[in-house]
Amino acid sequence: MTKSYRIVAIQGEGIGLEVVEAALLVLQAVAKRHNFTVQVDAAIIGQKAFEQYGCYFPEETAELCAGSDGILFGAVNKGGLLELRQRFDFFANLRPVKTSPSLLAKSSLKAEKLKGVDILFVRELVSGIYFGKSHRGDDFGYHTMYYQDWQIKRIAHVALQKAQARKKHVTVAHKENALPNLPWTRLVKELSTNYPDVQVETMLVDNLAMQLVLNPQQFDVILAGNLFGDILSDLGGALVGSVGLLGSASLNSEGLGMYEPVHGTAPDIAGQKIANPLGAIASVMMMLEQWGEHLAVESVQTAWQNILDRGYRTADLNPQGAEILVNTQELVELFLASL
Ligand code: IPM
Ligand code: MN
Repeated sequence: MTKSYRIVAIQGEGIGLEVVEAALLVLQAVAKRHNFTVQVDAAIIGQKAFEQYGCYFPEETAELCAGSDGILFGAVNKGGLLELRQRFDFFANLRPVKTSPSLLAKSSLKAEKLKGVDILFVRELVSGIYFGKSHRGDDFGYHTMYYQDWQIKRIAHVALQKAQARKKHVTVAHKENALPNLPWTRLVKELSTNYPDVQVETMLVDNLAMQLVLNPQQFDVILAGNLFGDILSDLGGALVGSVGLLGSASLNSEGLGMYEPVHGTAPDIAGQKIANPLGAIASVMMMLEQWGEHLAVESVQTAWQNILDRGYRTADLNPQGAEILVNTQELVELFLASL
């Protein structure tokens, strides 16, 4: 029997519209080739939802997402995203950053520092300072970085498990010299006795940021809380040459996930149909991986490599010399031709 999946597509705003549309075409093509079907329900959050329902994350959208096999998300400027993450407890945010041999010259770092860089950022996504007690007074305000120990432990488990299937090394970002009541070091080290094959290293987050630029090759899995993970993972965009290349998955403990490019709405180029769809396509690959459709992932991966090796580049990658400038649709057509 043909396997069938149902996903919810939330395009959002800015280039979210263009890249989700593009990624869906690639998804449908790879589904056809590997004999499964994907039903796509469209839903809205953010500004559009506010105009239509008076709230950024309408119940209609939540109900469509519940019981689906995944959410493909574009980008929003404001509103809805944090609610969506929290509603489905998408606590485990995975952001892989892997340099590609044909794009080494695109980064501002030297190619020799970038060769072989393959980092997985594991970011806690539903707690920390984003969700702690906060208040705005007349002339003051605060946000609280609050973590239950179990919340740190459950994201640490994810990082340790991922490391087991990789190079067996986890670097834990912390700031215990100023924030000693959030003992990431102790909690993760305690847990890691269950993963004797994984080496755990802890690093103050400010030093970690510097190390990512000085010597990114030293890292395998980087584990961080919500805010530190947000900041550090953007550095990943600088390493690979364009944030437009990066995808992400945010998973809950049942394995439901939302899949989202890292780049955001990019209002400066929105609507011009020149956005790089690779971040959204990378996110689709993570969804396929989560479904266990490994052959489909391989097909997209091969097409991806092939297209980059032949020199096709969207504008964010600043094509030079023999490289060929393509827009969103042209890049998608290259995928459709090779799938
Ligand atoms: C991200 C974004 C979001 C975050 C914003 C839009 C709230 O920067 O997904 O990295 O900080 O989590
Ligand atoms: Mn961010």
